[in-house]
Formats: sequence, structure tokens, C-alpha cells
Amino acid sequence: LYGASRRNSAGVNLADRAARAQLATAIAEAAARDWVSQPMLGGEASPGNPVFRDCHDPSHPGRVVGRATDASAEDVDRALDIAREFAPTWDATPADDRADALDRAADLFEEHLPEFMALCAREAGKTVNDAVAEVREAVDFLRYYAHGAREQFSQPVQLPGPTGESNALSLHGRGVFACISPWNFPLAIFTGQVSAALAAGNAVIAKPAEQTPLVAARAVELLYQAGIPHAALQYLPGEGAVVGARLTRDDRVDGVAFTGSTETARLINRSLAARESALATLVAETGGQNAMLVDSTALPEQVVKDVIGSAFLSAGQRCSALRVLFLQKDIADHVLDMLAGAMDELSIGDPALLSTDIGPVIDTDALAMLQAHAERMATEGRLVARAPLDPQLQGHFFAPCAFEIDDINRLGREVFGPILHVVRYRARDLDQVVDAINGTGYGLTLGVHSRNEDTQARIASRVRVGNCYINRTMTGAVVGVQPFGGERLSGTGPKAGGPHYLARFATERTLTINT
Ligand code: NAD
Ligand code: ALA
Repeated sequence: LYGASRRNSAGVNLADRAARAQLATAIAEAAARDWVSQPMLGGEASPGNPVFRDCHDPSHPGRVVGRATDASAEDVDRALDIAREFAPTWDATPADDRADALDRAADLFEEHLPEFMALCAREAGKTVNDAVAEVREAVDFLRYYAHGAREQFSQPVQLPGPTGESNALSLHGRGVFACISPWNFPLAIFTGQVSAALAAGNAVIAKPAEQTPLVAARAVELLYQAGIPHAALQYLPGEGAVVGARLTRDDRVDGVAFTGSTETARLINRSLAARESALATLVAETGGQNAMLVDSTALPEQVVKDVIGSAFLSAGQRCSALRVLFLQKDIADHVLDMLAGAMDELSIGDPALLSTDIGPVIDTDALAMLQAHAERMATEGRLVARAPLDPQLQGHFFAPCAFEIDDINRLGREVFGPILHVVRYRARDLDQVVDAINGTGYGLTLGVHSRNEDTQARIASRVRVGNCYINRTMTGAVVGVQPFGGERLSGTGPKAGGPHYLARFATERTLTINT
């Protein structure tokens, strides 16, 4: 499926001076614009709730990036009516036409890369590298699911049967899909969910995270511009507990694509189960308590680089990020010394500067939660290292830190940000360590650093995670290359950017004709 003819987006070569200068100008221009997000119903802006709120830059909370208003109860109701009515038409639209529109959107997204980068930096605190990766991933999702629609949805599959009988299996949209996305990938995940649901022939209601409506609103404008019919895509920004909850209670929704916390996924599951209507599909991609195992055969320099990349870059605000580092006792002191040295070099500050490694966390709630967890760890564990933080910085900045602890079981829920926990283990306890990782109940990513192939195979066959990375970073899955997603508390599957994703957004029909 989705064979070799597909290419991933090239992004921008940040090593090229001229490209960097061009990008900087475009980013400055885009950053100066007054961005607006408001509900879009049938392609028309709805005033939503009458009061617009300011959207602030997490690295300079005094700076207003744009204005947003949330969908009202009437907007939700009307959006669902429009979507319900149009769903059969969109499903009957040839899959190739749906795919063409998504491909055009991919081209438009690439053309608007600097603008999206500026928005991702200013609204979500993304560094330049992360912002480029964000746009590339969104473009990849658009093209990947367009490709998938052509391969899987354009022709029924003819099946064998007795003489005089024909059998064919075809895929159709389920009806109306609500797509509910998180702030940490405000463009990529928003676009991934929406494009998959559209590719499969569903009418879509898109609900972005309340922290990042401006990026999402711009994506919707470009999707319309690319030819996605207005009635096929309704945009409903707003609070999760209000707009999201209203959507998932409604009988007119046939499926929900959700990415966010495990706790919210549970609420949505309950809400869908309590309805009287047809059983709904839930695709949920949630959090992780992700570990990395490092044994004494590993290369310490590589380990330190990959720990920094996996735990602290993107301010640790990736579901895939490293949270618990298991170090074999024999090498632990050496690796921790090197890690402390490397953390001392990290540059934390304005995400729009190329020299910045780590930007802000998303908001004051996130900052307070991280500060409280770090305080708890300082008493329950031992501080290994903390990156330097300029006290003059005004934004929601948190200094990445590492704490040594005794037991992974004491951590509980995922802590979403740049706090690393370190546990030492003895080589003979390797299986118990893997069992403890499985025992957290999460199953998203695992990193392994070992040059011993038996150890690699032993861990990979025992651990229950969706994505296992050996001798590299454990973040940054590439669409169509590392299909991404977890199991158990970390998600329902199927994997985003993988060949089985689209089928979950579809219903299968078998047609048997006796001629
Ligand atoms: P969140 O669960 O708070 O919110 C996610 C979305 O759900 C938002 O749009 C929010 O408005 C909405 N929502 C909140 N309450 C709702 C309700 N009662 N009903 C319906 N919708 C509701 O998560 P977040 O803080 O935005 O994102 C961070 C979380 O997302 C982390 O746990 C992270 O691990 C996870 N995540 C997972 C993946 C993955 O692919 N597995 C990717 C990115 C983020
Ligand atoms: N897909 C994202 C990553 O792999 C979350 O980091």
C-alpha cells in the first residue's frame, strides 16, 4: 500500500544562508499580521460567541498574536446539520477528486510554509526547526492520505465467487467525523486527522485545541482554497469541555478522531457510549510514559545527544518524548556527567531565533504543573542537572531538568514537558525493567541504546509499545516511514501516517450480484 511513488516534503534547508534570510523576512511579515479565528459553517464565518479573546504568544505573553472567538451551541448544531446533509454527496464524489483537492492543499501549505512557521512560533512557541518539521508533516499527511484514497477507495475490490455471481468490496465514508486535536501539533495533527477523514469520504467537523485556533483557522482557509467543498468541512474552535463535549454527545456524529490526553479520551469514550444512536468509531491517540534503555555497550556521546533530543527539545511537549531514562549501573555516572554538561549548553528563549534550542511551554497551567512536579521530584528524588534559564525571560519558560528516582511506578501519569527521570538498573534485571515499563499501562514509544543485537531483539520482542527506536532519538516519526501511534493507555490505533489508518475512517460494503 501507498508504494514508492510517494515522496515526503523537503521542507527548508536551514543551512543555506539565503534561504534563511528569505524565511526570516517572510516570518517577520507574517508575524505582524492580525490573525483571526472564528467558526466556519458552510464556508461562512459565524460570529460565534460575540466576544473575541486575544491569543497571546507563550514566549512574550504581553504580545497579542491574533483574536479568536469560540463556536456557540447554535454553531455546533448548524455545523452538524450541514455536515449530515452533505456527507452522502462527499462520499459519492470520486475518491480521485477528493485526493486531488488534498494534493492541491499540500502544495498550498508548502507555499505558505513561512507563514505557518511564524504562526507556529508565535501561537504555539515552536522553534524554527520544530516549525519546519510541523509544516512538512502536515504536507506529508495530506499527500499520504490523498495517495491512500486513490489506492484504497477509487475502485471496489473484485472478489471470487461461484459461476454467475460477482462479489465486490468497497470502502465508504462513515458519515460525519469529529476531529479533535491537541495544541502541541497545531498544524500537523489537525491536518492529519481532517485530511484522513475527508480522504475516506466523511464530512468533517474540525475542533482545534483552545490554545492554538489561529494556525488551525489558516489551515481551513487553505483547504477551502484547494477545493475542499465548504459543506465538507466545518470549523468549530472552542473549549474542549464545551464544544468538544457537545460534539461527542451528539447522535449526528458517526466517528471521532481524537489526539490528546488519555483522560480526555476516556471522557469521549464514555460520551459516545452513552448515546442512543449507531455505535460510533473512536480513533484515539493519547499520551505515554516513554522510556529509554541504555546498556553498557552503548556509545555515551550518542546517548547524550539522543536523550537531549528526545527529552528536552520541543520543550518535551511531544507525546513521543522521553520521560524515564534507564541506565545500566556500570555506565550511569559517566553518562549523567556528560548529560549535565550538555544540558548546561542548552539555549532557552525566543523560539523564532535560530540559535534557540528550546522555546516556552504552552501556557501558565503547563508551567505551574511542571514546577509542582519538579518540586515533588526534588524531595522524592535527586536533582541530576538543570539547564540554565535567563531570569529576564518573560514568557512561560521552564528549565529542562533531570532527577534520579528509584522506581518508575511512583511516577503515575504522564508529565508533559521537559522533565527527565533517571533510574539505574543492573544488567541481570533487564527483563524486569521491560516488565516495569509495560506495567505503567502506557505503550507509545521506547528508545534503546545498545550495540548488542541479542539485547535489542530481546527488548523489542518483550516491550508493548507502538514505536520502538534503537540507537537513535525516539521522536520525529516520519509519515509513511515510521507509522506512529501507541497501544493500551496510549491509544486505540491504527497508526497515523500508516497504511491502515484510512480504513478506520471508512465502512466496508460487500455487493453480491447473481447474474
Ligand atoms: P487534551 O486532552 O487536554 O486536549 C486535546 C483536545 O481535546 C483539545 O482540542 C481539547 O479542547 C479537547 N477536549 C478537552 N476536553 C474535552 C472533552 N471533554 N470532550 C471533547 N474534547 C475535549 O490534550 P492536550 O493538552 O491538548 O495535548 C497534550 C496531550 O496530547 C498529551 O497527553 C500528549 O501525550 C497527547 N498527544 C498524543 C499524541 C499521539 O499521537 N499519541 C500526539 C500529540 C499529543
Ligand atoms: N509523531 C510525533 C513524533 O514522532 C509525535 O514525535
